[in-house]
Amino acid sequence: MTRVLVTGGAGYIGSHTALALLRAGHDVLSFDNYANSSPEALRRVTVLAGRSPEIVEGDIRDRAALDAVFFRFRPDAVIHFAGLKAVGESVERPLAYYRTNVTGTQEVLETMQTHDCRQIVFSSSATVYGEARYLPFDEDHPLAPTSPYGRTKLFVEDIIRDWVHARRGTSAVMLRYFNPVGADMSGQIGEDPNGIPNNLLPYLARVAAGRLERLGIFGNDYDTRDGTGERDFIHVSDLADAHLAALDFAAHQIGATAINVGTGQGATVLEMLHAFETAAGRQIAYQFLPRRPGDVARSLAAVDRAARLLNWRATRDVADMCVSTWNWQSRNPDGYGT
Ligand code: NAD
Ligand code: UD1
Repeated sequence: MTRVLVTGGAGYIGSHTALALLRAGHDVLSFDNYANSSPEALRRVTVLAGRSPEIVEGDIRDRAALDAVFFRFRPDAVIHFAGLKAVGESVERPLAYYRTNVTGTQEVLETMQTHDCRQIVFSSSATVYGEARYLPFDEDHPLAPTSPYGRTKLFVEDIIRDWVHARRGTSAVMLRYFNPVGADMSGQIGEDPNGIPNNLLPYLARVAAGRLERLGIFGNDYDTRDGTGERDFIHVSDLADAHLAALDFAAHQIGATAINVGTGQGATVLEMLHAFETAAGRQIAYQFLPRRPGDVARSLAAVDRAARLLNWRATRDVADMCVSTWNWQSRNPDGYGT
């Protein structure tokens, strides 16, 4: 049993990971300011797990608040999800992204140091790789993010590497997520984006539900099987399990290690659309649009480091991703707002 402080615990990935941690018998404290989430997610996690995480409303930029929580909860480890994640918004508001993602993480690390907490699992992203020089992306691929958001992830990875190098006995796992999708099989928790979704699966779900008219597919002239973009989609429950494995790894290993989290299998936009049609039992209207600026043709993870170091592999496929997304969407048409 480990005492785990989860920043951003009410968020999409944080809530699924909090659930997995509680089910595995760990003690969890969620520290979240609800900038992009609802405390309702944690209420549902409590029902699903049959026990409650500790819940604190607070901001990672607020050192005094972090200090009070570390003093009281005495975490063995931190899983650090809290941050801002919209690529387009990061271009418009770079300083907000640097403040929350970079300065906020420094506050977390400094508080860990003050309280002698030595293990961290950090939410990094495949976006740190930028344009592919080769595929699949392995962890040694050059790092060249193309947005302020991506650069915050790279800077934080570097800060964590420097800190772990300087501090004996510390360990960090930086998980580079590919495209997290799907929802807990209960349909009680899931991704609840504000406004019109930017990402593919939430958009598909809303078209299937009749809340949006049709999917616009950004580009059908890529060098892929069917001309549409190809991604390595990873089920959020598999991703949650990867965090448990990373926590275990960090407890037994010193040093800072970056590890991809994906399936190693790509699906194109059209393939996802057809899988979603099957899951929802209805047709989904779409039209082809020009390419979206900043998009790459293909993104795929090399997954052998995760298998070797974490003894973890994804077990859920594209059908599971679409069925669980549809289950969440149809039970909660207004997300946590209902
Ligand atoms: P999310 O927005 O659902 O969760 C982030 C959580 O952090 C939210 O609950 C939000 O309220 C909280 N938060 C934001 N600013 C905060 C602050 N200053 N203090 C305290 N809490 C704050 O996003 P998510 O999809 O669950 O992503 C979690 C992490 O994983 C993020 O760091 C994100 O960058 C990273 N990531 C996500 C994806 C993805 O596709 N979802 C891919 C790669 C990496
Ligand atoms: C985006 C982010 C990435 C982030 C990830 C989270 C960019 C450039 N990258 O990745 O940093 O980690 O989300 O999951 O924003 N698509 C459509 N129509 C839509 C929406 C998407 O055709 O309405 C296509 C996209 O062109 C792409 C694929 O679907 O080919 C996946 O898009 P999306 O879900 O937004 O993820 P990424 O762009 O891969």
